[in-house]
Amino acid sequence: MKSWMRKLRALLVLGSFAILLAGCGKENLTALIPKGYGAERSYDLIILTTTVMSFVFLVVIVLLFTVIIRFRKRKGEEVRTPKQVEGSVLLEIIWTSIPIILVIIMAVPTVMAEFELADDSDAPEHLNIDVTANQYWWHFEYKDEEGEIDVVTSQDLYIPVGEKVYLDLYTNDVVHSFWVPSLAGKLDVNPDNVNRFHIEAYEEGIYYGKCAELCGPSHSLMDFKVIAVSPEKFEQWKDDMQNFDEEDLELDAVAQEGKDLYEQNSCMNCHAIGDDGPDIGPNLTDFGNRVNFAGVLEPTKDELVRWIIDPDEIKEDNRMKTGGYPEFNEDEAEKIAEFLMQLKATSVTPDDVDN
Ligand code: CUA
Repeated sequence: MKSWMRKLRALLVLGSFAILLAGCGKENLTALIPKGYGAERSYDLIILTTTVMSFVFLVVIVLLFTVIIRFRKRKGEEVRTPKQVEGSVLLEIIWTSIPIILVIIMAVPTVMAEFELADDSDAPEHLNIDVTANQYWWHFEYKDEEGEIDVVTSQDLYIPVGEKVYLDLYTNDVVHSFWVPSLAGKLDVNPDNVNRFHIEAYEEGIYYGKCAELCGPSHSLMDFKVIAVSPEKFEQWKDDMQNFDEEDLELDAVAQEGKDLYEQNSCMNCHAIGDDGPDIGPNLTDFGNRVNFAGVLEPTKDELVRWIIDPDEIKEDNRMKTGGYPEFNEDEAEKIAEFLMQLKATSVTPDDVDN
């Protein structure tokens, strides 16, 4: 290979790594910029283990090169066999104990962090939310002090900033994994048991959440958001959500037609607006304020129309099957989209958040 080609190849490889790794640094989507307690504990462990590993790597490299250089065969030199150290008790002790010490240095803080993060003894004193994973969306039920359902929502999880929030993880189908990289580590959502952990955000913001377990063809689209707002705004949000009555919505004429279509076509057999109703599909209360819908789509009229007409094309294998509900033409879909965009339950919105 010509030398310029080799250089070009190296440049291409480096360039693509740079582009690839640049994605890892996205604010509010990376464990490397922790913005919450769990993420910070993980980050500290990442730094600790990386330091230990780098130390090992460095020592091995230095030893390797020392040996290569010192014991190389020089010009005109006879081939010689170095002194054999096989069976040396001292050396055996050294290279057995060093790795054990290093493992202990990494294991003790890791195990301590595990136990600390798994301790849920103070859960009754904090906000508790049931999280239910579905192919491919997330459902949230806020509990009051008595454990009764207080507020129901989907996809956008509002939490008060600086407060511990306990999450109980359920699934309606397969195994998923709840992960908000900048706030906490990931935790599996299993059909057989309920996993509990807590998240806490240090600052206001919209944090990206992901399903981190391959759960089907649209696994990569199973996104959600955690929206951390001030405790005052959170109380306001909760209050608005609880007292929301869709009959009070001020809709324009087109949206009103959309609402009628929504009702006539039994959309509410799957989607609830308000706290009561089915949870076969995402709860649509406050849909008009969603950051995204269907996981990753912008909540614009065009995208909504596209979704309402043919969801299969966007999100393969999702439960809202194209043809599995009444068919809509573009005009009807536009009206429903208009209704959904005007479906706002609260004055606390993602736009309020300093991000
Ligand atoms: Cu749910 Cu991947």
